[in-house]
Amino acid sequence: MTSDPYGDRGNKDRSITDPDGAGTLEAHPGTGQPMNTDNAFLIGDTMTGGYGNGPDILHDCTIAVNQGEIAVIVGPNGAGKSTAMKAVFGMLNVRQGSVRLDGEDITGLSPQARVIKGMGFVPQTQNIFTTMTVEENLEMGAFIRRDDFADTMAQVYDLFPILKEKRYQAAGELSGGQRQQVAVGRALMTQPKVLMLDEPTAGVSPIVMDELFDRIIEVARTGIPILMVEQNARQALEIADKGYVLVQGRNAFSGTGKELLADPEVRKSFLGG
Ligand SMILES: Nc1ncnc2c1ncn2[C@@H]1O[C@H](COP(=O)(O)OP(=O)(O)O)[C@@H](O)[C@H]1O
Ligand SMILES: [Mg+2]
Repeated sequence: MTSDPYGDRGNKDRSITDPDGAGTLEAHPGTGQPMNTDNAFLIGDTMTGGYGNGPDILHDCTIAVNQGEIAVIVGPNGAGKSTAMKAVFGMLNVRQGSVRLDGEDITGLSPQARVIKGMGFVPQTQNIFTTMTVEENLEMGAFIRRDDFADTMAQVYDLFPILKEKRYQAAGELSGGQRQQVAVGRALMTQPKVLMLDEPTAGVSPIVMDELFDRIIEVARTGIPILMVEQNARQALEIADKGYVLVQGRNAFSGTGKELLADPEVRKSFLGG
């Protein structure tokens, strides 16, 4: 099945990524120091690993989110942001390091088992079933539930009213921003304890991006911590409690969203000055 949201192992088009293009930025005091992650609700801790038997893509890479917070991962194309997310979700061989959820080591669990533990994941690509209706997508999202999920669906429709309006339409007919709402809504159907979003605003207009960020903040306020990759780095860091800049599979900078936005080096290299 091509639209399996967990089956896709990421972008396979190497031509759009430049493995030599990320530079040799060095971490420096302040935002370059490792963050205190003692209170992390979800953490991929010093992860090293790659795809199958291929070379390591991640090198001692740490990404984490605390209860009640939004953490944002930014960095150049091909830096390993999606790979780090997939590692946290159990789609990668983590050769060193660990993944912990609410204090429990889940490094050995399958993605499905992680969903049951409370992880929701919206991958960067192929994150909806395009030939199914909006409502069927949400029902698919509830696949692990044996209880009545009508209330959760109503909550998703409250959060994204346009989805209720279009609930009998094929998801593939929706606009980019609406499809992302379907993808996030689908992930919410399991009532996750933490939500991971890989580029939820990819390819949408600035207005739609703002709206999506507002909805994401709303989700976070309901008590679901959010670990999110974003290419709209500046806007994302503005709403982030914590931020990570990844370069060539390593942590280059980390700090609060404010610290990263104020860091001259981060501004120059990653935020367009
Ligand atoms: N399925 C895959 N198999 C092998 N290599 C991959 C796969 N997906 C991504 N990569 C490689 O991993 C590196 C990081 O890619 P990715 O995590 O997608 O970067 P980002 O999300 O930061 O743009 C790139 O060199 C990319 O070519
Ligand atoms: Mg990516």
